[in-house]
Amino acid sequence: GAAGPCCFVVFGANGDLTKRLLVPALYNLAATGLLPENFCIVGVVRRPMEGDTFRQMLVDGLKQFATRPVDQAVADKLFGCVTSVVAQVDDPDSFKDLAKHLEKVEAGRNTGGNRLFYLATPPNGFAPITRLLREVGLSQEEEGGPWRRVIVEKPFGTDLASAQALNRQLLSVLTEDQIYRMDHYLGKETVQNIMILRFANGLFEPIWNRDHIDHVQISVAETVTVERRGAFYDQTGALRDMVPNHLCQLLSLIAMEPPARYAAHSVRSEKAEALAAITQYTPEQAILNSVRSQYGPGIVKDQAVTAYRASQDVNPKSVTPTYTAIKFAIDNWRWAGVPFYLRTGKALAKRKTEIAIQFKDAPIAMFRDTSLSGMGPNTLVLDIQPDEGITLHFNAKVPGPKMDLAGVGMEFKYKDYFEAAASTGYETLIYDCMIGDAMLFQRADGVEAGWSAVQPFLDAWGIAGERGLSTYAAGSEGPAASDIMLARDGRSWRPIG
Ligand code: BG6
Repeated sequence: GAAGPCCFVVFGANGDLTKRLLVPALYNLAATGLLPENFCIVGVVRRPMEGDTFRQMLVDGLKQFATRPVDQAVADKLFGCVTSVVAQVDDPDSFKDLAKHLEKVEAGRNTGGNRLFYLATPPNGFAPITRLLREVGLSQEEEGGPWRRVIVEKPFGTDLASAQALNRQLLSVLTEDQIYRMDHYLGKETVQNIMILRFANGLFEPIWNRDHIDHVQISVAETVTVERRGAFYDQTGALRDMVPNHLCQLLSLIAMEPPARYAAHSVRSEKAEALAAITQYTPEQAILNSVRSQYGPGIVKDQAVTAYRASQDVNPKSVTPTYTAIKFAIDNWRWAGVPFYLRTGKALAKRKTEIAIQFKDAPIAMFRDTSLSGMGPNTLVLDIQPDEGITLHFNAKVPGPKMDLAGVGMEFKYKDYFEAAASTGYETLIYDCMIGDAMLFQRADGVEAGWSAVQPFLDAWGIAGERGLSTYAAGSEGPAASDIMLARDGRSWRPIG
């Protein structure tokens, strides 16, 4: 049913995120009856906007980014509750104006004082905004009183120390239960389905361990380039941008122990435990077990792409990786000896996020004399995006008098069973925050465990500088170094293209 009454307050409200994702997501919630009757949207902007400009921006956002046909009555109702107010962290008094504004609109809409603060600002806003909210008394929760929750967008820190510092700052003005750290991968249906696959089925869990699994590959390949995000991206790079958050989320869902309950506390504890079991490499091990690379010029989806270093707002001598591959080891009973290979990169041949669980070979090769050319390993492939599905690859006999084997697949495609969800992925997350379910958000320990896992690479690469940085052609499958890393273990990546 619909969430309870509340006021949705967005900081950084005139940014891209509001238009592209929040507006369509809120509209979808409204259209499916999940928004409360008593609801209002307040945009916090840094500079005064003419009368109706903010509302108009949201209206335009929906026009441009709606994921389903727009019902004008629903849209009118949604946008009927929109106001904006100016507040900025370098003017603490402006937060008092915000407080007055909220009091007024909340009384008008009868939202009962429940507030969701959505921080869609650059990360340097997170600490000062939450501090000022507290100072003017907007974010406290009293026993039995209304709820106050804060969604913090990515990026959460730039390394382990800064993530810890940010957690400390947030936790000095809010309780852990009030903080909803966003990782939009957890809003993806196929990502949520990993737990369902494992724990709603009896079939997989008995073989989900070191006795039966040879290794795991997690790939997040993108075709997009750095585009206009050069200033941000050159400070960030593929590792920080994708691994401690999105790829570690995927890894922890695959590697976690079965939670005692399908509830925020159990699930988040098990995920954090899985990440905490990742081997902390020495600098030498970190170098040996990683690849970092930058795209050079090339062709992606028939479009010429200039080299990363020649991109707008990128240092021509930049050593920021746009591709990284990592071999993780997980030190626990379930996974000892089972490598987890992760890779992610921009300007690659194809957009594809998949997780491949490769099982061990049959114990004896009794088909030695036959043509095994078509034979492949037993692999369970979870296609996360864009062609959502799950495929189990195994071997079969090619019909005919000769004994030939070939790899075949049992395939499940979401689209064959379910209507495509006309959603952005943010609906679930916003709704969950409104009803107080934090399962699909990151807890402080989980975020820090993700950063701990990648910190050895950040340290080692920082010292190595240009040394060890390779390049790959835009539009390719990635750098040769990445294939070499797996070949050393007698393994190979599944093709992307
Ligand atoms: C973001 C990164 O968090 O995730 C982007 O900052 C990346 O660089 C994006 O492109 C990928 O998300 P998705 O949903 O397209 O896989």
